[in-house]
Amino acid sequence: MKCYNIAIIKGDGIGFEIVNEAIKVLNAVCLNENFKLSYKEYLMGGCAYDITNNPLPNETVEGCKKSDAILFGAIGGEKWDSLERHLRPESGLLRLRKELGVYANLRPINVFDELLDVSTIKPEVLRGVDLLIVRELTGGIYFGQPRNKNTKKALNTMVYTKEEIKRVAIVAFDSAMRRRKKVCSIDKANVLEVSQLWRETVEEVAKNYSEVSLSHMYVDNAAMQLVYDPKQFDVMLTSNMFGDILSDEASMICGSIGLLPSASIGGKVGLFEPIHGSAPNIAGLGIANPIATIMSAAMMLRFSLGEESAALRVEKAIQKVLKDGYRTKDLANYGAKKICSTSEMGSIIAKNVAKI
Ligand code: IPM
Ligand code: MG
Repeated sequence: MKCYNIAIIKGDGIGFEIVNEAIKVLNAVCLNENFKLSYKEYLMGGCAYDITNNPLPNETVEGCKKSDAILFGAIGGEKWDSLERHLRPESGLLRLRKELGVYANLRPINVFDELLDVSTIKPEVLRGVDLLIVRELTGGIYFGQPRNKNTKKALNTMVYTKEEIKRVAIVAFDSAMRRRKKVCSIDKANVLEVSQLWRETVEEVAKNYSEVSLSHMYVDNAAMQLVYDPKQFDVMLTSNMFGDILSDEASMICGSIGLLPSASIGGKVGLFEPIHGSAPNIAGLGIANPIATIMSAAMMLRFSLGEESAALRVEKAIQKVLKDGYRTKDLANYGAKKICSTSEMGSIIAKNVAKI
């Protein structure tokens, strides 16, 4: 039987709880499919800093590079906020992305009909939303040089090379070919040179995809359009920071940031993580929503392991559980149904995986 090696990084805050639930669901999947998973846990983030003085120990990088895929929870917390930038938990994650070369981050936004009443946006605006944000992940202002800070002045630089834009644009167009064949590229080309190059390069890539229709939108307008009429979008292609901001905004289309998964691909090994943070304020309370992480595990099955039927099994189980009325606290604002804890939600999804 096939056996895949999965690197597990739980991280900080709620990371531990949500990843445990994803493992529970993955184990249930294995019982019903023809492969096995072997897990090895690594440290990253604040917990790694506390033990090794380094938010990304070498052992983690080496272990991740040797694995078939990486499942990651979340990092960060107030406790480490005053550290120098390179020691902060976030630096660990950014370095890992760079080391792995995962330059494309896929963030699908699908609205569950069962949760239409959870969002603060009107149901008729939301019903049927199916969009994919393709966020550039290893370049842009997150990584640009020079960067500097003293007490009087600080600077960061937004840099993109043509090659960096081209490769992520190809991921967006390839994705669009498997979807509704529309790419909307988001930039700020009316102000930034880096966005002008972005736009020109995306236009060039589009020439190889005659079936895909390409449009461009300024990021400020895109932020508005996303809540005004999210159904107009199929694939949104954008840079690192714009994608970070727009995907948090888009999570409110689904009703909770606890629902959005992501896949970081482009390197040899894929990294799969929920889009949300470590939520230290609710860590350990057993109320975090594990669905974003469980859906990230489904993306891992699909993109890194090629186990499509297993991925569908997980996604259908989640849908079934929501249909049956189970809700973690974040989804329970309006007419709470069956409220469950983090681990109850994981268990119910795991149980349903077998029934699909
Ligand atoms: C995300 C997160 C990270 C990012 C942080 C934790 C560095 O917000 O994955 O969206 O900004 O990329
Ligand atoms: Mg973010």
